[in-house]
Amino acid sequence: MSERDPAAGSTGGPPEEDPRIAGERHPVAKMIGIGIVASLVGIAIALIIPWFPVSAAKSADKIDTVYDVLLICSVPIFVLVMTVAIYSVWRFRARPGDMRDGAPIHGNTRLEIIWVTIPFLMVTALAIYGWVTLDDLEAKQPNELIVNVTGRQFTWSFEYPAQKVEANELVLPKDRPVEFRIHTKDVIHSFWVPEFRLKSDAVPGLTTKIRLTPDRVGNYEVVCAELCGLGHSTMRQFVRVLPADDFDRWAQRQTEEGQGGAPSGESGEGGGAQGGAGGGATAAQGEQIFTAQGCGSCHTLAAANASGTVGPDLGKLKNANAGFVRQSIVDPSAEVEQGFPDGVMPSDFRSKLSPEELNALVKYLLESQE
Ligand code: CUA
Repeated sequence: MSERDPAAGSTGGPPEEDPRIAGERHPVAKMIGIGIVASLVGIAIALIIPWFPVSAAKSADKIDTVYDVLLICSVPIFVLVMTVAIYSVWRFRARPGDMRDGAPIHGNTRLEIIWVTIPFLMVTALAIYGWVTLDDLEAKQPNELIVNVTGRQFTWSFEYPAQKVEANELVLPKDRPVEFRIHTKDVIHSFWVPEFRLKSDAVPGLTTKIRLTPDRVGNYEVVCAELCGLGHSTMRQFVRVLPADDFDRWAQRQTEEGQGGAPSGESGEGGGAQGGAGGGATAAQGEQIFTAQGCGSCHTLAAANASGTVGPDLGKLKNANAGFVRQSIVDPSAEVEQGFPDGVMPSDFRSKLSPEELNALVKYLLESQE
């Protein structure tokens, strides 16, 4: 800026040819040429980059193809716009000392029609293509396995109504279509298994659905893809895709455990010792509850292999008594550990857990101290 002489410039004389454009022949052809070469390089790079993890569902290939088509269409537009912009900035820049105004340009109707029509046709075609593909993926399949998925801060739970199974991990048979019915108990979450590609929000008051057919045996992860609170990043659980027989055996075992576990011996209901760690409750039951309620997503507890950091470390309860532990579970705002925000821990465990379950959980926590 400073090397320019403000007195130079507007001489008021007759318009002469602008030397910035003077020597420039066929700038448009040149820019299009550069743009085409750069686009081809850009497309090649975009297609070489491995954007996705392995695919573990039948629909994944179609989704990946949509993505590739979008890349092939959008890279040239990006590259063309950038080529024209960078070329113009560099080639037609004002030299030091040149204070003249630019040429008075009043638009170019033909160019404007072209640059409105081509993107309009492209975007419309891509929208139709995407819609047709999605419609195809969402079609109802025969012999669907229904899985109810429930998100809550900060864990997922899964229920198989036909098998009467509730589980903390997602287990699916290979090659059988699955319909996920997605719910949430609190805020918006988003159910996503990257290897399956499809993703859907869990919205309070709604049941959203996705359908897909796992086609690769393996372990993957369900992740929450919607910022849902402090523990969002810990909201991950395993998905296991098993051969159909193994899935049936797993479901069978879950059902048996569910039936064997529920009536569980002496229903001691606290044995009169309110605030004590409970009569019939066992630490083993407490461990199951700790896992099923997803406590480890937010809390650290070595005995449970849990390393959450959203809430206080539960391995530091050596000097705590049962009354305090119980209160902290059912009324988390009563005494908030220093350094942790109030209102993050769900406050509905009193209604979610029976008194026996609560006793078992307290007992487990107290017995898991090192
Ligand atoms: Cu649930 Cu993020």
